[in-house]
Amino acid sequence: MLSCCPMRMSLFAMGFLLVILQPCTGQFPRACANTESLLRKQCCPPWDGDGSPCGELSSRGSCQDILLSQAPLGPQYPFSGVDDREDWPSVFYNRTCQCKGNFMGFSCGECKFGFSGVNCTERRLRTRRNIFQLTTSEKDKFLAYLNLAKRTLSRDFVIATGTYAQMSHGSNPMFQNINVYDLFVWMHYYASRDTLLGGSNVWRDIDFAHEAPGFLPWHRVFLLLWEREIQKITGDENFTIPYWDWRDAESCVVCTNEYMGGKHPTNPNLLSPASFFSSWQVICTRSEEYNSQQSLCNATSEGPILRNPGNNDKSRTPRLPSSAEVEFCLSLTQYESGSMDKMANYSFRNTLEGFADPRTAISNISQSSLHNALHIYMNGSMSQVQGSANDPIFVLHHAFVDSIFERWLRRHRPLREVYPAANAPIGHNRENYMVPFIPLYRNGEFFIPSRELGYDYEYLEEPALGSFWDFLIPYLEQARQIQAWLIGAAVIGGIITALFTGIALACRKKRRGTSTEIQPLLIESEDYNNISYQSNL
Ligand SMILES: *[C@@H]1O[C@H](CO)[C@@H](O)[C@H](O)[C@H]1NC(C)=O
Ligand SMILES: *[C@@H]1O[C@H](CO)[C@@H](O)[C@H](O)[C@H]1NC(C)=O
Ligand SMILES: *[C@@H]1O[C@H](CO)[C@@H](O)[C@H](O)[C@H]1NC(C)=O
Ligand SMILES: *[C@@H]1O[C@H](CO)[C@@H](O)[C@H](O)[C@H]1NC(C)=O
Ligand SMILES: *[C@@H]1O[C@H](CO)[C@@H](O)[C@H](O)[C@H]1NC(C)=O
Ligand SMILES: *[C@@H]1O[C@H](CO)[C@@H](O)[C@H](O)[C@H]1NC(C)=O
Ligand SMILES: *[C@@H]1O[C@H](CO)[C@@H](O)[C@H](O)[C@H]1NC(C)=O
Repeated sequence: MLSCCPMRMSLFAMGFLLVILQPCTGQFPRACANTESLLRKQCCPPWDGDGSPCGELSSRGSCQDILLSQAPLGPQYPFSGVDDREDWPSVFYNRTCQCKGNFMGFSCGECKFGFSGVNCTERRLRTRRNIFQLTTSEKDKFLAYLNLAKRTLSRDFVIATGTYAQMSHGSNPMFQNINVYDLFVWMHYYASRDTLLGGSNVWRDIDFAHEAPGFLPWHRVFLLLWEREIQKITGDENFTIPYWDWRDAESCVVCTNEYMGGKHPTNPNLLSPASFFSSWQVICTRSEEYNSQQSLCNATSEGPILRNPGNNDKSRTPRLPSSAEVEFCLSLTQYESGSMDKMANYSFRNTLEGFADPRTAISNISQSSLHNALHIYMNGSMSQVQGSANDPIFVLHHAFVDSIFERWLRRHRPLREVYPAANAPIGHNRENYMVPFIPLYRNGEFFIPSRELGYDYEYLEEPALGSFWDFLIPYLEQARQIQAWLIGAAVIGGIITALFTGIALACRKKRRGTSTEIQPLLIESEDYNNISYQSNL
């Protein structure tokens, strides 16, 4: 059942005919958005390379039953069997492609993050750069890519425009085409939308991407996928998203017509007509309407991007975040804590997300700090969770948030087991699959340094230490992480430990003062009795 993708064509997007393709399919692989796949509950499309499901004939992968985590969930969501996102993706599919080696993708047709080449054997390392360090032509290229994404229908994915029940359990598929940019807006909406309980009832305390430990891994995958889709539609395999380093900014310095759009001359809630973003239409912003109709966002255009930076409620968010707040946040040693939601105290995740006071790490939901502060500050499309990705500032902002997550990972070097295995809010346990991605990704898989996923941040790159150190550092890092274990090992292990420790110390001394991660903590001994709370983005 195709309902046409109702994208209104703006003047600026003219010249591009949006061809509505065949009846289609969601964040769902197009190849699996049909009655047959839904009724069989199987999403194992053929790989283009050899025509076999999951590229099985080429040993890329095979079609397997999904294995769901049985770990208990937290108490925040008191229902079961009422939301399509529970035990993702089992309501829709119970068999998907399981890829081998470095292969990835819904049909194992792609490489894992950080790999490339026909057999996915070449390691890649790309650098995300500060948007203000791009040359004019690089920056213009980035803006053009965004615009292209907004005008290009996704080849591989479609969105669901109805719930599984509304689709009559698969016999009446409801899917629709979407452009590549809006696919990501929709996925962010779908992960954060309310549970529809029938009648006019909804459950609001649910979110598969926010207010819980999965917040950082979820947005990490989201940006990696977004980056990859841009690479695919532009053919620019080296594309990376830039970031906006907003620490200590006194205003929205990316809000100019050269960058993400300046203010409209007469309406302060709109973008300047001189920015092509003023012609963009938003989707998925009317949550109350969807709730009252018990329907899903179907990507109908809902008007222009709204933004009025700095017009926000100052008692909630007095200003953009400071460097000192970021440093304090990085000094927190616990990734997650307590109830693992927005009430968590001393949680790195909750503090970075912005529900805890960035001077004390005590939860205060009447404040919006760090990550949340940016959303609230923009006072428009960015400020409502479900529709926030409509504003392209979202991408720059989340790249920087991810870089802070990355600094924390590099500083504290947690084992994967530090990510909570059980009792997190629904969808946020370590082994849960993240909603609404297909292929499947578990939260815990992205709790690792970004270089293992094939990317780094310009401002975090290690200073050149010469090829000897470049070669040795990964081993030293490993050695440090497993030191305790090594010491307990056999004599030879002890000798190796001593050797590596010696080198590690020498190396650390050498790096001190040059790497951002080894700076002294600015506010480590802040007064923990100074309580303040935080808010709801
Ligand atoms: C998967 O779903 C199909 C269709 O409902 C069902 O027949 C099959 O038993 C399920 N398989 C598993 C492993 O749950
Ligand atoms: C990729 O793998 C196939 C099958 O193993 C092999 O025949 C081919 O030579 C490989 N190609 C490259 C470029 O490594
Ligand atoms: C991407 O970067 C690699 C390595 O720097 C280079 O060899 C390649 O030509 C680049 N590709 C494109 C499309 O620019
Ligand atoms: C899409 O959703 C809007 C708002 O919820 C609704 O008014 C409209 O009828 C829907 N369109 C289709 C084709 O379902
Ligand atoms: C903008 O800020 C005002 C307070 O200054 C607030 O009432 C309003 O809800 C905000 N709008 C959005 C979209 O965040
Ligand atoms: C967080 O700390 C504050 C202040 O100590 C306390 O009142 C509150 O109960 C704590 N919250 C949780 C969830 O432990
Ligand atoms: C929470 O933040 C508000 C607004 O900044 C502040 O007035 C209040 O005192 C804080 N509450 C606590 C318990 O710190």
